[in-house]
Amino acid sequence: MASPHGGAKREIWGSKFAFVLAAAGSAVGLGNIWRFPTTVGENGGAAFVVIYLLCVLVVGLPVMLCELILGRRSKRNPVGAFEHVAPGSPWKAVGGVGVVTGLAILSYYSVVAGWTLGYVYKIVAGHFSGETDPEAVAGQFGDFVSSPLAVIVCTTLFMGLTVTVVAGGVRSGIERWTKILMPLLFFMLVLLVLRSVTLEGASEGLRFYLEPDLSQITLSTVIAALGQAFFSLSLGMGAIITYGSYISKKDDLVSAGIMVLIADTTVALMAGFAIFPALFTVEGLEPTAGAGLIFVVLPNVFNQIPLGMLFGALFFGLLCIAALTSTVSLLEVVAAYLIDERKWSRLKATTLTGLFCLVLAIPSALSTGASSTLSALYRAEGGSKGFLDLMDLVFGNVLLVVGGMLIAVFVGWRMGLGEARKELEEGRGRFSLFSLWAVLVKYVCPLALLALLAQFVITTIRSLG
Ligand code: TRP
Repeated sequence: MASPHGGAKREIWGSKFAFVLAAAGSAVGLGNIWRFPTTVGENGGAAFVVIYLLCVLVVGLPVMLCELILGRRSKRNPVGAFEHVAPGSPWKAVGGVGVVTGLAILSYYSVVAGWTLGYVYKIVAGHFSGETDPEAVAGQFGDFVSSPLAVIVCTTLFMGLTVTVVAGGVRSGIERWTKILMPLLFFMLVLLVLRSVTLEGASEGLRFYLEPDLSQITLSTVIAALGQAFFSLSLGMGAIITYGSYISKKDDLVSAGIMVLIADTTVALMAGFAIFPALFTVEGLEPTAGAGLIFVVLPNVFNQIPLGMLFGALFFGLLCIAALTSTVSLLEVVAAYLIDERKWSRLKATTLTGLFCLVLAIPSALSTGASSTLSALYRAEGGSKGFLDLMDLVFGNVLLVVGGMLIAVFVGWRMGLGEARKELEEGRGRFSLFSLWAVLVKYVCPLALLALLAQFVITTIRSLG
């Protein structure tokens, strides 16, 4: 299979399937299994899920196609892509913001991925064996994430893995491995769901997850749902532009985009079915638990499965790999920029970026208990929030939405829909929903996102003042 992570000569994916696999690898990660249940829990459950699905379809899919168009048309990194379509214009700043956003997300994402890695060790070392007291399980999470040494070591290990893969190893087999390991993760998720929904008392959780209470929907719910859709689909900062730049002209962008979307959404919805029924069967756990939610709920489920600890170690191990295929895409965006535009070597680009991100990760790593100042910067639903939450809000939410909006404006107004249509229909033939897509990209996405962002900024400033 051709790998795009080559040297000077730009390669293309071996097939559409190779692209779908890589893009689905980027999309499916902690965003689905960690961030989705956490955000659903913090935003009141089923009503959020409904809004989320709407955001995926009405905004996510159209913007995904915009990124694919920009990538394949320009065959460049995000900065180069804007420059290629609109030479000499300030539009390339949008690509630049994307690169910075990628760096920022990579920093705190690696901290959570480090927790996952740490949990593989903790489970194997028997820290949860026979532990049936949920408070003790929660306490173990708290102790672990507030130990600066443990968290920084795990983050460093994970960042090291990401750098190693992007620096040269993608070719030597990560694609082949993900083809086996991702279906395995999916299979284990199915088993977890089956266990979770058959626990005694599971119905309360199912109700929380499936019975929408529309009165729960507020501006912050909608912003959170939009941000989650962008985050989960890897949109808004140019990752899909970069991956799209390696797609062959013979392939069909529309069906590729739809496949990635289906894979990503299925995994996220299943993660909800694994978490919420189990959550409500455990005395003392609340859906608003925040970033620790899955780390507290899942060990309690593993405890009720035969060979549960083996299962748990394997599950968190596979989650690490899912996270790795996502961090690879984040680092690849920054590396592609430094290699294409700044003429750095791949090794220099990946190691220096990795080191920089590691330093940037330290405040996030210390913000879950180790430093009391960094751990309580502001208040929100569910309690006080720290530096990691703030990074996630600013970069993983607001800036992705800003980026997505500008990408839609760029394709709809600057590049022009005629050009876009040519690129979309290349390798496919007629795209019958083109007019619907055009309206979404030209009017609905830009206006809706702008209105929401403006409202959000106003309410945030008010709440500060
Ligand atoms: N989508 C990934 C996840 O769900 C995270 C991710 C990878 C990402 N690349 C991205 C998020 C680019 C935003 C932009 O875990």
